[in-house]
Amino acid sequence: MSISRRDCLFGFGALLAGGAVSTIVDGGAKIVHAANTKRFEQVNGEFGWTPHKLDPKECAQAAYEGYWYKGYACGYGCFYSIIGVLGEKYGAPYNQFPFTMLEANKGGISDWGTICGALYGAAAAFALFWGRDERTPMVNELYRWYETTKLPIYNPGELAQGVKGDIPSNISGSVLCHISVSKWCHEHNIESSDKRRNERCGRLTADVSQKAVEIFNRKIEQGANFKTTFPVQDSVEYCGTCHQTKGNEANWAKGVMDCTPCHSGSDATQNMFKDHP
Ligand code: HEC
Ligand code: HEC
Repeated sequence: MSISRRDCLFGFGALLAGGAVSTIVDGGAKIVHAANTKRFEQVNGEFGWTPHKLDPKECAQAAYEGYWYKGYACGYGCFYSIIGVLGEKYGAPYNQFPFTMLEANKGGISDWGTICGALYGAAAAFALFWGRDERTPMVNELYRWYETTKLPIYNPGELAQGVKGDIPSNISGSVLCHISVSKWCHEHNIESSDKRRNERCGRLTADVSQKAVEIFNRKIEQGANFKTTFPVQDSVEYCGTCHQTKGNEANWAKGVMDCTPCHSGSDATQNMFKDHP
């Protein structure tokens, strides 16, 4: 649709007239100038898809396979393991989703090492069904589990696509790809470009999927009664008494990631720009 100067004038007129939806008859054609509320109307409504319970083990395997499929990686693997598997079972609208959109999440978004792609994939999948108030406890449950659990757990056995057998695991303490991967590599003396690191992230994608689907199923069962089982991190509670409390002179900090990895003065967070190999 091209927008003519005339349409623009009408559009501005409608805005000036107060912003409500205005219908203008122009040479027989009905032109609807939408106010903002109309503009954002969405097919199937907002957060409007219907969830169905899934088998966490089946989804974990799909996530692992999705991770390796054309190297589309963690965000794609985890998101596909929920929405794609729903599509395999129930067809539309789930199978209409352009899944490769989630490939942007590889390596914490185009290898920037921000949020772990698998975690974003799960949160995005949840958001097709539940709005913010309902979804946040689900995200909190998954992310806090990720911060505190020794990963990876999943072992694809003979179906391994990177390396077979056991690989080391650790607790990341962080939802960020950078911290999660770098800490694991440092602890186990493995280069971040090593195939074992890919395998670790593939298995971890399966773990995140399995946990996400358990949460998804529990949400379907419990509805509005769904609650997080993890308490808020000690650091967020303690540091937040000043840095996240309204009216406090030091109320500056955004976010509920565990503060510890970055603000505990660990060896890794000293000044590395001087006296460093
Ligand atoms: C009792 C209140 C209080 C608590 C609890 C608290 N802070 Fe602060 N924090 C402050 C105040 C006040 C400042 C500003 C100090 C200044 O400007 O000299 C500050 C400064 C900071 C700064 C900036 C330091 C700098 O000089 O650049 C960081 C980072 C910070 N706090 C992180 C934390 C973290 C992480 C925790 C939890 C481990 C924490 N704070 C707990 C009150 C608090
Ligand atoms: C992933 C690492 C990371 C995490 C997790 C993190 N921070 Fe920070 N934080 C930083 C960095 C980096 C800065 C910017 C420091 C600078 O000014 O160079 C910062 C800035 C701040 C500041 C502003 C002070 C300043 O010096 O700029 C406060 C206050 C703060 N963080 C508190 C917290 C609290 C409280 C938490 C936990 C709820 C937390 N941070 C979690 C890395 C982190």
